[in-house]
Amino acid sequence: MHFSLLLFACALCGSTLALNNGLMRTPPMGWLAWERFRCDIDCQNDPKNCISENLFMDMADRLSEDGWRELGYVYVNIDDCWSSMERDENGRLQPDPKRFPGGIRKLARYMHDRGLKLGIYGDMGTHTCGGYPGTTLDKIEIDAQTIADWEVDMFKFDGCYSNATEQEQGMEVLGELGSCFRSLFDCKCILALAGYPLMSKALNATGRPIGYSCSWPAYRGGLPPKVNYTQLGEICNLWRNYDDIQDSWDSVLNIIDWFFDNQDALQPAAGPGRWNDPDMLIIGDFGLSLDQSRSQMALWSIMAAPLFMSNDLRTISSGARSILQNKIAIGINQDAMGMPGRRILKEKSGIEVFWRPLSNNASALVFFSRRTDMPYRYTSSLRQLNFTTGSYKIIDVFTGKMASLKDSTDFVVSVNPTGVVMWYVSAPARTNLNHLRRGQEAHRVAEENFIPYVFL
Ligand code: GLA
Repeated sequence: MHFSLLLFACALCGSTLALNNGLMRTPPMGWLAWERFRCDIDCQNDPKNCISENLFMDMADRLSEDGWRELGYVYVNIDDCWSSMERDENGRLQPDPKRFPGGIRKLARYMHDRGLKLGIYGDMGTHTCGGYPGTTLDKIEIDAQTIADWEVDMFKFDGCYSNATEQEQGMEVLGELGSCFRSLFDCKCILALAGYPLMSKALNATGRPIGYSCSWPAYRGGLPPKVNYTQLGEICNLWRNYDDIQDSWDSVLNIIDWFFDNQDALQPAAGPGRWNDPDMLIIGDFGLSLDQSRSQMALWSIMAAPLFMSNDLRTISSGARSILQNKIAIGINQDAMGMPGRRILKEKSGIEVFWRPLSNNASALVFFSRRTDMPYRYTSSLRQLNFTTGSYKIIDVFTGKMASLKDSTDFVVSVNPTGVVMWYVSAPARTNLNHLRRGQEAHRVAEENFIPYVFL
């Protein structure tokens, strides 16, 4: 068995190391089952909510009919608990026959017919986190090929149950390969022999473009030196760095804190084709107020995070929908430059300021309140926030209000407890000379010099 694995790994090492699938140049967007629907497999008693093809077709209908797809939410992703407990007679993974009677390829085509894409879940280890069949090293090639044969577009590779025995097995193989490659190939190959890089190669080798989400860092503490983000960026399109999100503000806040406390390590790791994944959007579920929902949307956009909603699109409230469908927030998240933002200020008052550079010299600002008393009136100026001299156009992302603001002018934002004010800030007007030359622009110049004291 080790010999065939060795041949497979040798074959993969012949090609380039980089994941060159050209996918996900902006953070992927869509819907993912796990947080909201977990491992509910009781289709007899809970047919509308159990993990079955009907649930994914329902969500696909909503995405394509309720305006989501046009905004970029195109992935419909199956998570754990979709498969049968046994592989088929050829050793291939197979879906649970009762819950997915049409099979995965048919479901993929259902998505493709609607301009959507299908994602599926696997686990590098003996079992998935939910106890379903996992992908051990010897199954990587066959599982990658199965997924490609099904015409799946994205693959999340979890990391439960890579137990000691498996690791030993891996080490043994590594040893063999070490001697193999020392004489045959360059030593880079030896570095690429853990399951995650092998799966990356195996997916590439199928010839089908498949977005690859790796949970690897989340199982290794999420930080260097244990996690090598340069290598990850070469083999995965996105990666879970940290804990699973739950349906509560505590959980969202904990994730926000971890990502921004560690921004020096994490922020440079992301860019077009390779994204940090702070986990799903829980907007539209039960745990967040509307203010907290805006905070999640705003900070996930600052982070350039994948936007995978895990909610029930059949019953979502209009308030949650309008936050998730906010075009300016989505535009910031999807900015072509793909550079994530950072926390730039932590005030004693409990206000924190975040900033993300955007294309065309624009940027996004988020004023976030950790307070739990009342709306806080925060005073600052663009100059204090490191903006260069000039007059800027501001759009308040969640109210749509617009104004112009000079770098030197004090403004006040009123930030609700656990909420945000989010701004899109355009590049400073270069010079008003052109405007002055044309009479009809005089009005615009006057407007640009209008200085709002309170920006609500
Ligand atoms: C892990 C992952 C989750 C989800 C579950 C499924 O906890 O981090 O995102 O996929 O497994 O069992």
